[in-house]
Amino acid sequence: SIDLSSLTKQTGYTTLDYGFVNTAATKSAITYIDGDQGILRYRGYPIEQVATSLSYLETAWLLIYGELPTATELSDFDERIRRHTLLHEDLKRFFDALPHNAHPMSVLSSGVSALSTYYQDSLNPHSPEDVEISTIRLLAKLPVMAAYAHKKSLGQAFLYPDNSLSFVDNFLRLNFGNLAEPYEINPVLSKALERLLILHEDHEQNASTSTVRLVGSTEANMFASISAGINALFGPLHGGANEAVLTMLAQIRDSGEGVAKFVERVKNKEAGIRLMGFGHRVYKNYDPRAKLVKESADEVLAALGVQDPLLDIAKELEEVALNDEYFVSRRLYPNVDFYTGVIYKAMGFPTRMFTVLFAIGRLPGWIAHWREMSSDPQTKIGRPQQLYLGSAARDLPPR
Ligand code: ACO
Repeated sequence: SIDLSSLTKQTGYTTLDYGFVNTAATKSAITYIDGDQGILRYRGYPIEQVATSLSYLETAWLLIYGELPTATELSDFDERIRRHTLLHEDLKRFFDALPHNAHPMSVLSSGVSALSTYYQDSLNPHSPEDVEISTIRLLAKLPVMAAYAHKKSLGQAFLYPDNSLSFVDNFLRLNFGNLAEPYEINPVLSKALERLLILHEDHEQNASTSTVRLVGSTEANMFASISAGINALFGPLHGGANEAVLTMLAQIRDSGEGVAKFVERVKNKEAGIRLMGFGHRVYKNYDPRAKLVKESADEVLAALGVQDPLLDIAKELEEVALNDEYFVSRRLYPNVDFYTGVIYKAMGFPTRMFTVLFAIGRLPGWIAHWREMSSDPQTKIGRPQQLYLGSAARDLPPR
């Protein structure tokens, strides 16, 4: 056995905090969460007001610059983003080189790294101009890359952005339009997608945002940091949960075992299965975003005339879990991702695009945190401690 006290630094204390449950790595003025009360605010504004009154870009401005934009600031911002939506033509070869069944999250993270190679002279994290243009380029081009990843998986031609359209409508057209006929925007889909993106825009120090900050703390450029954030988001315990929820709902439907039996298996921790889309590190009360998403799910499915048995299974699961001692005592409630997949599916997105949609939503938050981190004079390179539990010093055997 090893005496841990002798391994901690002589000069102070080392805290062992798996999962950073109690350790703040930074101060921040962007997003406030009270997990016990189920409160979420962007720059002080309640999420319920933001998600129902602002646009995606207005919210992005608020998160990144700290205040609501004036009408002129917003239209300039929107205009600049529209002017930067085109990707370098050579990037088409990058997409061509990947297999058609590549996971779009892998395409997106490597695409963001690849994108930075076209802007090598404007990546200096200490230059305000470079930071500004990187912000615009990422916001403008990430949705286009995401739509290309989708189109590639279908074997369909890429469309050029139509900059007469709003941010969200442009994105819908790039995903669902084709070269042969004009694409008609469905305002119900457009409004619902905008709301979902806004709900995902920031969530303070979650795993992907902390990754962006950690990578950024090394003075890596914004593209490199955000590419790392996309990879952190990929995991099923984080952004990948929206994909995992739909897979779980489909398995329950296809197995015919029924919700109650499935919930029993979750409670028995059979093969480590969890109720995906349930539970949250911070929310120990209903996730306020989940309430808004659930409303959208009903609206979108009704407007599209879709009757999806997966939505019924999701509602039944929620009902069973919210009345079950196992979930109640652990304070496990639906999180933002419990109902998003059902909506994305009704919109026509394939399951593997769900986490990509999360990434587009989260991008303004990642940018806001990267900028806050890099302009904070107290930022230091992130470098956690460890408690070493390996062998004591020993000599190699004689050779
Ligand atoms: N289903 C069943 N049991 C669960 C679930 C779940 N979804 N989540 C937590 N538990 C149980 C654990 O087994 C544990 O039980 P125990 O005390 O008997 O061992 C207890 O609740 C506490 O769980 P932890 O893993 O310690 O909680 P933590 O805060 O670390 O995890 C997390 C949070 C990762 C989100 C977890 O709830 C989970 O895995 N949920 C499913 C995946 C998911 O939906 N992720 C999306 C999160 S939101 C987002 O990223 C946008």
